[in-house]
Amino acid sequence: MLLEKIQNKNSIVGVVGLGYVGLPLLLEFIESGFRCIGFDVDPQKISKIEGRKTYIRHISEKRIAKAVDSDRLEVTTDFTRLTSADCIVVAVPTPLDKHQQPDLSYIINTSETIAQYIRKDQLVVLESSTWPGTTMEVMKPILEKSGLKYAEDFYLAFSPEREDPNNPDFSTKTIPKVVGANDDISRDCAKALYDAVIVQTVPVSTSQAAEATKLLENIFRSVNIALVNEMKMILDRMDIDVWEVIGAASTKPFGFMPFYPGPGLGGHCIPIDPFYLTWKAKEYDMATRFIELAGEVNTYMPYYVVDKVGDALNTRNKSIQGSKVLILGAAYKKDIDDMRESPTLKLIEILEYKGAHVDYNDPMISCMPKVRKYQYDMQSIDLTPENLKKYDVVLISTNHSSYDYDMICEHANLVVDTRNATKGVTKGREKIVKA
Ligand SMILES: NC(=O)c1ccc[n+]([C@@H]2O[C@H](COP(=O)([O-])OP(=O)(O)OC[C@H]3O[C@@H](n4cnc5c(N)ncnc54)[C@H](O)[C@@H]3O)[C@@H](O)[C@H]2O)c1
Repeated sequence: MLLEKIQNKNSIVGVVGLGYVGLPLLLEFIESGFRCIGFDVDPQKISKIEGRKTYIRHISEKRIAKAVDSDRLEVTTDFTRLTSADCIVVAVPTPLDKHQQPDLSYIINTSETIAQYIRKDQLVVLESSTWPGTTMEVMKPILEKSGLKYAEDFYLAFSPEREDPNNPDFSTKTIPKVVGANDDISRDCAKALYDAVIVQTVPVSTSQAAEATKLLENIFRSVNIALVNEMKMILDRMDIDVWEVIGAASTKPFGFMPFYPGPGLGGHCIPIDPFYLTWKAKEYDMATRFIELAGEVNTYMPYYVVDKVGDALNTRNKSIQGSKVLILGAAYKKDIDDMRESPTLKLIEILEYKGAHVDYNDPMISCMPKVRKYQYDMQSIDLTPENLKKYDVVLISTNHSSYDYDMICEHANLVVDTRNATKGVTKGREKIVKA
């Protein structure tokens, strides 16, 4: 019956956690004709949606307004409403704690809340990135505390999220979605749910396989980024431009995929998810050597960049101690306003530790929000020729498209570029140092 309800779009879809993953997903379900309930513990998010306002830059207010006006959307902090949903999709954070261990507290809290309101014939799907086994070893026992039995009374699946915020080529709807469950009904129901909104659904035999798929994808990125970061350091010592080499290698039509060096890893996924596997692998007496090595190289990158800043200042008879540094870009990648795990945070810490006075500019982040580990009281500096001239060095950490790199290089005293953002610049090239 649940399967039929989903296929006919008569089921009500609840989405728990309305962040970067949950909000676009909720909108996709609404736009495909489902009735939906969005849940979040943050009342500000709820009132923003109700007021037809956005809190994620690449999700338009027009889209939110249309969803609210559809009369098929309810958003709430009232979790008793979970009972009304037929399908409950969970997209809550999965960070690391201060000892770099998985922090499953959000999944555990959400599962405990769902367990209070779960009823027969509901499907629960976890989307948060996590170690293989979380759905069956952590979520299932908590949900069963309700007295209902998995695969008899309620259904449970895992479907990893592949959201790439602000990617112009792919959106939630057009990225194929993997779905895994340990029984046929859960898998069929979860597949039907995503089939209704997403271009392609890829079923796998277990939730553990689906959980591991997400980790493999992000470990692949972390390891390859580390490889190219190591190449950058080696080639720099040899006075070979790594960017030119990557460009040339990319012309090979098979067997090569370009990855790009940078000031370090950022975002909620790539720096974090691999260590979820490291933690779980220990239970099986296994070491994750590639993950550790990649982590070591990528973690070193901000230190390498600061060394390059020091070398660049040295050519002007200056030192980091006492210099004024303007960092361009606070977000972890270009053209987004998300600064979770951004390498800029680490760059500020190291530069300030070495005695620099640091400011930043980011057209999308007017003041630094509090994030895991860091709370800087800083406001974005206006990017004017006068302001640029005041700094001993301008450090490009994030290559936002809106930056006028010609203007920056013309007026800055010295530019350290970690992203090859200045490749097309014609004026002031002699001031550029790649890092
Ligand atoms: N951001 C991405 O691009 C991305 C991509 C792929 C996978 N993921 C994964 O998806 C998951 C969610 O990430 P995100 O970026 O959307 O996080 P986020 O921080 O943007 O959003 C999470 C939301 O969950 C809410 N929340 C926290 N505890 C809750 C609770 N107990 N009940 C209800 N809501 C609660 C928060 O208020 C927040 O609005 C993570 O596991 C992440 O690794 C994220």
